[in-house]
Amino acid sequence: VTGVVVSTGSEPGAEAAAGPPPRRVGIVGSGLIGASIGLALRSRGVEVLLSDVDAEQVKVAEAMGAGRLWAGEPVEHAVIAVPPHAVAGELRRLRRAGLANTVSDVASVKTKPIAEAVRAGCDLTSWCPAHPIAGRERGGAASARADLFVERTWVLCPLPHTSAQAVAATAAVALACGAQPIRTSARRHDRAMALLSHLPQVVASLLAAAIPDLDAADLALAGQGFRDTTRLADSDPGLWGSILEGNRGPVAARSRLLAADLVRLAEVLESGSADAAADAVRGVVARGNAARTRLPSKHGTPERAWAWVGVVLADRPGQLGSLFTSIGRWGVNVEDIAAFEHSLDSPAGIVEIAVAPDVADDLLDRLGAGGWTAYRRS
Ligand SMILES: NC(=O)c1ccc[n+]([C@@H]2O[C@H](COP(=O)([O-])OP(=O)(O)OC[C@H]3O[C@@H](n4cnc5c(N)ncnc54)[C@H](O)[C@@H]3O)[C@@H](O)[C@H]2O)c1
Repeated sequence: VTGVVVSTGSEPGAEAAAGPPPRRVGIVGSGLIGASIGLALRSRGVEVLLSDVDAEQVKVAEAMGAGRLWAGEPVEHAVIAVPPHAVAGELRRLRRAGLANTVSDVASVKTKPIAEAVRAGCDLTSWCPAHPIAGRERGGAASARADLFVERTWVLCPLPHTSAQAVAATAAVALACGAQPIRTSARRHDRAMALLSHLPQVVASLLAAAIPDLDAADLALAGQGFRDTTRLADSDPGLWGSILEGNRGPVAARSRLLAADLVRLAEVLESGSADAAADAVRGVVARGNAARTRLPSKHGTPERAWAWVGVVLADRPGQLGSLFTSIGRWGVNVEDIAAFEHSLDSPAGIVEIAVAPDVADDLLDRLGAGGWTAYRRS
C-alpha cells in the first residue's frame, strides 16, 4: 500500500505507509496485543521475534504461531507492547542494546510515557509512539487473535523528533495488521481516549461493582442491557491501573462532569414533579440518542444512516439461512447485522438487519408477504 500523510500538526488524519512491512519485527511484551500483532505479521510472512518478562507468555504466543523466542538478534522494527508505565524503560533498554532500527509502542496512553522517555534520556528519533484502537477484556497471549486489528484505527503520535523512517515503519506494521493508521497528537489522543475508553472502563466497572447489593434471586433478573453495559468490567485491574494513572487529568475532569450530571438527575428524580422527572430522563436519553448518531460506522458514515429491520425467527434449523437467501434474492444489500437475540426459554429469536433507508419499507412488505414477522426498529 502506498499513500501520503494527509495531516499535519494535531488534527487527526489518515496516515499511510510508503512501503511493505519490516522484514523482521521484535515484540517486547507477548500478551494480548503483542501476540496478536505477532500473529497478524506472521500471516503476512514477516519474521517475528517474541520476548516478555513472563516466559510463559512467550511459550503460549510461540505455540499459537505468533513468532519465535527473541534471543537478542537485531530487528528492523521493535514493537513495545507492555503496560504504559513500562514503555520508557523498555525503550531505553532496546536503544542501549542497539537491537532495533526503529521502535513503536502500543500503550493506551501517550503523553505520560512520552514525558517519561524524555526524562529517561531515550533516543526520540527512532521512536514513533502509537496505539492500536482494538482489544479485548481478557489479556494474555492465549487471548490473541490474528484479526484483532482488521479495519480498526491505529493511532500514530509522532514527536517532532521522530524520523520519517520510524513513522513509515510503524504505519507499515499497522497496515500489515489490517488497520488504518491515523496521525494525531499525544495530547489530543489522551483527551479523546479519556471519553471514548477510560471513562467507559470506570463506569462499566462501577456499574458491575454495584451487584453485591443484590442477592442471587435478584441477579437472575440481569438482562442483556446490564451484560452489554458491564462487558468492560472483565478487564485486567493491573493493566487499567497503569492506563488510568497515565491519563489522570483528563479522566478526572470527565468523571466530575459525569458525576455532576448524575447528581442533577438524582435530585430531580428525588424531589421534582412527575413531569419534571420524566422530562429530565427524556433529556438524558435524547442526548444519548443524538450523540450516538455522531459515531462513525465502518464506512465512515453516521451509524444511523441505515434503517434497521428486525425479523422474528422460529427456533427451527435453517431459519437464518432461508432469511438471508430470500433477502439476497430480492436484491437487498445487508449493511450490518445486530446482536442475534435469543432467549433460552423462548421458541423464537430476533435478528436485526441494517439496510439502506429507501429499501426498508419494500423489504418489510416482502418479508410480511413471505410469512416472516418483521418490524422497523425506531
Ligand atoms: N487490552 C487492550 O484492549 C489494549 C488495546 C490497545 C492497546 N493496549 C495496550 O497494549 C499494551 C499491552 O496490553 P495487553 O492488553 O497486551 O496486556 P497483557 O497483560 O495481555 O500483555 C502485556 C505483557 O507485557 C508483559 N510485560 C510487562 N512488563 C514488561 C517488561 N518490562 N518487559 C517485557 N514484557 C513485559 C507482561 O508479562 C504481559 O505478558 C498496554 O500498554 C495497553 O495499554 C491494550
